[in-house]
Amino acid sequence: MTVPSDAWRTRARALADLLSDQGEITDPVWHRTVARVPRHVFVPAFYSDDDPPELVDATDPRWLRLAYSNDTLVTQRKEHPDHPGMLWSTSSSTRPSLMLRMLQILDVADGMTVLEIGTGTGYNAALLSERLGSSQVVSVDIDPDLISVARNRLADAGYHPSLMAGDGSRGCPARAPYDRLIATVATERVPYAWVEQTRPGGIILADVRPRGMTWAGALARLTVADDGTATGPLISCTWGFMSARRDVALPGVPEGVPIDTSTTHTRTSDVGREALRTPGLSLLIWQRLPGLNAFPGASATRVTTPDGSWANVTGGTPAKVEHGGPSDIWRHVEDAHAWWSTHDRPDVEAFGLTLGHDQYRLWFQTPEGERWPAPGEP
Ligand SMILES: C[S@@+](CC[C@H](N)C(=O)[O-])C[C@H]1O[C@@H](n2cnc3c(N)ncnc32)[C@H](O)[C@@H]1O
Repeated sequence: MTVPSDAWRTRARALADLLSDQGEITDPVWHRTVARVPRHVFVPAFYSDDDPPELVDATDPRWLRLAYSNDTLVTQRKEHPDHPGMLWSTSSSTRPSLMLRMLQILDVADGMTVLEIGTGTGYNAALLSERLGSSQVVSVDIDPDLISVARNRLADAGYHPSLMAGDGSRGCPARAPYDRLIATVATERVPYAWVEQTRPGGIILADVRPRGMTWAGALARLTVADDGTATGPLISCTWGFMSARRDVALPGVPEGVPIDTSTTHTRTSDVGREALRTPGLSLLIWQRLPGLNAFPGASATRVTTPDGSWANVTGGTPAKVEHGGPSDIWRHVEDAHAWWSTHDRPDVEAFGLTLGHDQYRLWFQTPEGERWPAPGEP
């Protein structure tokens, strides 16, 4: 459907005004950019928030208004074979306020090159192309179908960035080095390939978040140094991106590990399952227990680690903890809670990350400061 230019331009300008009023856009260049990019071209159909969700397209009177709303518009859903009947969001146009906040934190300037991980609908690649010129923008998505659709829509809107199908954890070496790298999909750890492909002095902005836990994570803004390390603060971002997929056919959700429940130990704990959702504390928990998966239920949350350890945590505090497998993983959560409590319950922004090719360090307050040890470290 062709939307008259006046109709979409009025809405795009209204969206830019809204983001400025909310303080998400502070730079007039980004206001102008949002006002010029036709978001509706990138979201010809998406799922509504209704339960069950309905597909909203140009035949729906809500379509154009929602296309220019400050909402995440889910454009692709997939069923996980282990969860028949449950559909998970696997691609979307993320809410513009988060995108614009990130684009400003990315701090681009004329002439810079940018690699985006997670092309999705192509809307963010369009914003970057409008701002920097299409030749400066490379974008990668794991789903080749999404890439070909995005390429056509970008061309319809007048943009021609380089798009590549592939696993974004490997970056896009063919066009490296980049001045900036932005990931619009969450990863549990920042891949070192991103550091290698970013110029010294360049910036990586990535959503660091455990798999499937849209509610527990942070944005890492890392500056790459000459010595091949990248360091920077974590920025609060309570609700972030969907998780990176390892396989194009599967959603990026926690995957169960085989567990043995034949021997179960039961105890109580002063730390309840809300610890997993507490900003700051959840960082420490996942740093200590990489690959921890959480499956929240109505009254209990099950957590598992890749070695087959598991715990079911029920109720508030004291919580009932049933556990089994090689280790009592909830003890690590209790350790993290104790450290966090003795350090005055710091929020995400008290922490930062340093990574190099043989280190991945979550630090407290300054890069030289105290750090929360990874598993096996003193
Ligand atoms: C939230 S969407 C990105 C939004 C997008 N930037 C836009 O403007 O529409 C996340 C995208 O990341 C992609 N993705 C998931 N896992 C990936 C991976 N391992 N490598 C690259 N892209 C991935 C998904 O297919 C999805 O399209």
